[in-house]
Amino acid sequence: MQTNVMTGYADGAVSSLMDELIPPSPVEHEPVMIEQVKELLDPSPGDVIVDATLGAGGHALAILPRILPGGRLIAFDRDTDALSIARGRLAQFESAVTFVHEDFRDLRAGLENLGIRRVDGLIADLGISSMHVDRPERGFSFSKEGPLDMRMDQSQRLSAHTLVNTWSIEDLTEILGALGEERFAGRIARRIVQARDQQEIQTTAELSELVRQAVPAQARYGRIHPATRTFQAIRMAVNDELGALGSLLGSLHEVLNAQARAVVISFHSLEDRMVKRTFAQGKRHDIWTVLTKKPLRASDEEVERNPRSRSAKLRAVQRSAMQSTPAFLSPEES
Ligand SMILES: C[S@@+](CC[C@H](N)C(=O)[O-])C[C@H]1O[C@@H](n2cnc3c(N)ncnc32)[C@H](O)[C@@H]1O
Repeated sequence: MQTNVMTGYADGAVSSLMDELIPPSPVEHEPVMIEQVKELLDPSPGDVIVDATLGAGGHALAILPRILPGGRLIAFDRDTDALSIARGRLAQFESAVTFVHEDFRDLRAGLENLGIRRVDGLIADLGISSMHVDRPERGFSFSKEGPLDMRMDQSQRLSAHTLVNTWSIEDLTEILGALGEERFAGRIARRIVQARDQQEIQTTAELSELVRQAVPAQARYGRIHPATRTFQAIRMAVNDELGALGSLLGSLHEVLNAQARAVVISFHSLEDRMVKRTFAQGKRHDIWTVLTKKPLRASDEEVERNPRSRSAKLRAVQRSAMQSTPAFLSPEES
């Protein structure tokens, strides 16, 4: 089992994540909390900015005009489909963008490969994109039939199929409870194990139906689909989303220039708690100033336009003044 699910964050602290699986907003690819991102990241011409989660390039499109002339956007995504969609949308800025197919957990190494030691700003807009949910073949959607996959990076070995068909009942119960805040975690895990003892579980529709069968009748007809939390938990475990965030947060102070800002948007209370704690620790060590005392939330109008923004929490920091090692690696170092 992957270690991330056993963080100290396991006790029933998962907020409403369901919004990630809500159908895409009528305003396609509207980037979440874009005005707040622009204000807090505050990019200027000539800046080198990391978009750690390029997705469809919505935030990138808003940042790029502000860093030109002379600026550069280093755009990470671990999903090649996202990178190719964004490449098309950002075509007019192509010469100012470096696309990186890499997990942001390896941010520092990814930047070093490009000869960059530190940058002037970073945005991370966590989770999956509407593209993931829209494409049944990617296996993220409980409402569209597809293979049990859920890998953001399709070259990764662990898929939802492996997890669902091989993880122990204890591990399944643990992730459903911790990452999905699923009240019926034990019942669902038992139903999955019973079913797979007969025959491997192959599709999202099969899993969805098993969850429906496992929960009590009154939970089958609630506000949200009964499989929402299960799919959420499995997706987060398959992609080790908390582990990746932990690594990103751990390297943030090393890659930000003095006065550089970082903005993180999370959709999960466990993620927000990790961001909050890291930012508070850095503040205690004078590594940075926290720019958001409390997390910022999307306005009612934005939530109405874009339901995915409902559970978004945005936090930002600004790096303090520090030692003056050069921001780019010397030829001997790179
Ligand atoms: C919510 S979407 C970003 C949307 C984007 N900000 C926009 O405005 O279009 C998150 C993206 O981050 C990517 N992602 C999630 N975790 C990642 C990780 N650990 N490393 C790299 N990319 C990641 C996903 O593949 C997805 O494309």
